Amino acid sequence: MDPNASGLVQRLAEAGQSHLLQFWEEMSPEEQADMTSNLQGMDLTEINGFFKKAMETSSSIKQEKMDARIEPVPREVLGSVTRDGDSLKDWEQAGLHCISQNKVAALLLAGGQGTRLGVSYPKGMYDVGLPSHKTLFQIQAERILKLQQLAEQKHNIKCCIPWYIMTSGRTMQSTIDFFSRHNYFGLEEKDVLFFQQGMLPAMDYNGKIILESKGKLSMAPDGNGGLYRSLGNQGIMSDMEQRGIEFIHVYCVDNILVKVADPAFIGFCVQKGADCGAKVVEKSNPTEAVGVVCKVDGRYQVVEYSEITLTTAQKRSDDGRLMFNAGNVANHFFSFSFLKDVVEKHEPQLQHHVAQKKIPFVNEQGQLIKPEKPNGIKMEKFVFDIFQFSKTFVVYEVLREDEFSPLKNADSQEGKDTPTTAKQALMSLHHRWVLNAGGHFIDENRRRMPAIPRDGADVGHTNLKDGTDLPIKCEISPLVSYGGEGLEELIKGRDFHPTLMIDEKGVHELVKNGV
Ligand code: UD1
Repeated sequence: MDPNASGLVQRLAEAGQSHLLQFWEEMSPEEQADMTSNLQGMDLTEINGFFKKAMETSSSIKQEKMDARIEPVPREVLGSVTRDGDSLKDWEQAGLHCISQNKVAALLLAGGQGTRLGVSYPKGMYDVGLPSHKTLFQIQAERILKLQQLAEQKHNIKCCIPWYIMTSGRTMQSTIDFFSRHNYFGLEEKDVLFFQQGMLPAMDYNGKIILESKGKLSMAPDGNGGLYRSLGNQGIMSDMEQRGIEFIHVYCVDNILVKVADPAFIGFCVQKGADCGAKVVEKSNPTEAVGVVCKVDGRYQVVEYSEITLTTAQKRSDDGRLMFNAGNVANHFFSFSFLKDVVEKHEPQLQHHVAQKKIPFVNEQGQLIKPEKPNGIKMEKFVFDIFQFSKTFVVYEVLREDEFSPLKNADSQEGKDTPTTAKQALMSLHHRWVLNAGGHFIDENRRRMPAIPRDGADVGHTNLKDGTDLPIKCEISPLVSYGGEGLEELIKGRDFHPTLMIDEKGVHELVKNGV
């Protein structure tokens, strides 16, 4: 394989990236072939342009400037499960109706690398240690199955919620294999569609692509906003069009409580005539590391916590709540026509965000260096950067303890958003479902336990190391209940020893006296 003959040498020279071939003679034929095909698939001029623009934008973002430009979400675009409780049933019915008409799709963003969690496989395959040992993928699949069933029962018509799953070069094959090994968790294979987002090279501060080893470029997925490009070039928009999809629920893989294709959220957005919507939870303290949905220069946007000053983050409204409290839980609603416009027209306008990283690299002497401080950047687009193009944007506020417990960090890191906190949050929710349906828990002396469960969202901040200070162990299969419905006939008036499991086979007490 001669890089001169293939024109590679010249292309790299023109793009200022000749260093990539520095170790060509030392590379194996396979490495040479891989590197050639990798580079041939890249538009180097475009990548250099991305770098230039991303660096310009990131250096021009000044916190002071952002602070002066942001405004909170106005009340009139806001729906809330607590403040608008009267409308909730209506929204849910409207959403279920759309589902029964085959107009709703779920779209899962699962192309991330799970770096903070520290696993080498896709995060959706993670088992947080529930009594059933279900993975995040299985829980989500079963919620879809149940929702289809609820819509079918209500409208007496067979329906389907297609599930589009975005993976990256690193997660695609293992994700597909996992689903196929598990028989798509009971879903129809043809209704689970995988597609792949793009990858971009990591670059040093001078715009040179970084070599991860002598024969390999350092590559990373292009951010969850890589969605829009891949929707177009992987044929997903056409698939949606053929199926007559009108509304899409886009969400992240890591939230164990996620209400996939949530009918109430969808119904709310549809009734408001929205083209785009975001689900939020109330941000409870100013330093919490979540993005906040707000308006910047009059346009909707998510501002990451690092982009505003503490003074702004601490501002409070008259009612004592944080002024910028619409915490983004990465659950979005898009109408099909809005999504189509984004994919076909607006995508190129989306800017890459710059993440400064410590990126292992091979230096000119061919030594592998693991830097101790950031030495380069990864470029990512963000899924919510298209809010700015929305004409009718709405925000839907839900309760954190019911809907948001993301898995970000490993248990070894302790603290927030770990497998333990995710597991606790789910069991705490299911505990409340049992109590609300008229069931009770009893201890080893057959005494009823207090009816106010520990809050799962809270648990991450306490010491759980010895495993004694846990909420009651209780798990309800999504195949039995999507959102707490349908449990009364199974459990009303009954007493249970934890661990309680309710699944499609029945109600089981797994460990007598175990808490
Ligand atoms: C994300 C949100 C943040 C929100 C938080 C809530 C974005 C950009 N940020 O932050 O505003 O408060 O969730 O939990 O959405 N992913 C891809 N491809 C990629 C990178 C990520 O598909 O190239 C997927 C991941 O698999 C995951 C999701 O996007 O499902 C979120 O990615 P992550 O990097 O964990 O986002 P956060 O920084 O936690």
